[in-house]
Amino acid sequence: MTLRLAKPFTITATAIALCLGGAASAQDMSDYTVMFEALPAMPPIPSGTTMSTERIDLGRMLFFEPRISASGVISCATCHNPALGWTDRIPRATGHDGQVGDRNTPTVLNSGFLGAQFWDGREPDLEGQALGPIQAEIEMNMTLVEAIDRLNEFEVYRDAFSAAFPGDPDPVNPPNVALAIAAFERTLNTPNSPFDRFLMGDEMAMTEQQQNGMRLFVDNGCVACHNGPILSDSNFHRFELPGSTDEGRFLVTGDEHDRFAFRTPTLRNVAVTYPYFNNGSVADLRDAVNLMGQQMLGHDFEENELDDLVAFLDTLTGEMPHIEVPALP
Ligand code: HEC
Ligand code: HEC
Repeated sequence: MTLRLAKPFTITATAIALCLGGAASAQDMSDYTVMFEALPAMPPIPSGTTMSTERIDLGRMLFFEPRISASGVISCATCHNPALGWTDRIPRATGHDGQVGDRNTPTVLNSGFLGAQFWDGREPDLEGQALGPIQAEIEMNMTLVEAIDRLNEFEVYRDAFSAAFPGDPDPVNPPNVALAIAAFERTLNTPNSPFDRFLMGDEMAMTEQQQNGMRLFVDNGCVACHNGPILSDSNFHRFELPGSTDEGRFLVTGDEHDRFAFRTPTLRNVAVTYPYFNNGSVADLRDAVNLMGQQMLGHDFEENELDDLVAFLDTLTGEMPHIEVPALP
């Protein structure tokens, strides 16, 4: 927007804001806020899925259930730990028999908003994702037949599956395990962060520095990939981490174009989901932002710019879901 003060001078709103040292006008700010979206309370629910209380409750039990792992001690919550931002805060996941995988554990918070699951996007949705870790040798190392047998041993589970899948004559089965876990995961959202409140019009929700970080984020092009409600385009971009041999999306498609490409992760709650990147090799958010600037934008940020960008990313930490830890049979 341009303001005509006195002919022949034309001064932009931003310039005035800078002179006054204050916040830019609401109109000017909308150039930035339009790139994002306040986090809705719920992600899109795929047609044909039911989000009944019974199904969500069953999914919560299964998420915390270690007996669907070969060792009997590893559950989804072992690596996606609610007390640690629903991740594990170690560089690469440690699963069955102490084996260390190749990749960092992403948070499951807001994962229902992602258009592709896993760093390489090999599953399109949460239902497709859920049975993978149970069977993965380095995660829970369990066959689905054994997992179903174990669940069937408990009357509590037989009843819970019947309640969650009414009319299904044999409800304790793998597709229903996936449906229940996915329903539960879709409730793990973190609305009402300072950024959301700012987007909804509360100008006091973000400090000057945080607002400046948001402008840097947009003006420098971070927003090209980190946009929308969870600041991810769910798309794949080449990113070569120093020392990493993980070929990312190429392992799924075999397409040369996808070599070393990874899905853009959400930046929601990024301040509490360290360490960063597909192999967890960067511990500090400031270093992660610096590397993004260099690799994705060919740009070296000044120290104060890095401070501002990190201050902005801090505003993306929302209200954690209030989950009751289930009492398992
Ligand atoms: C041993 C640790 C471990 C266990 C146990 C585990 N996960 Fe994960 N999870 C990971 C890792 C590591 C990834 C990323 C793997 C990849 O991208 O190749 C991941 C990815 C995911 C994702 C995708 C998130 C995203 O941003 O793409 C979801 C959702 C998820 N796990 C849910 C679950 C569920 C549900 C269970 C239990 C059935 C589970 N996980 C068990 C470590 C674990
Ligand atoms: C071309 C697309 C693109 C651009 C531009 C981009 N990013 Fe990223 N960003 C990604 C991808 C892809 C990853 C995942 C990389 C990996 O770990 O393999 C990522 C990862 C991150 C992470 C680590 C998140 C985590 O949980 O591990 C942060 C923080 C981040 N970006 C911030 C930024 C900032 C700040 C900018 C601007 C300076 C930026 N990004 C620009 C695509 C992009």
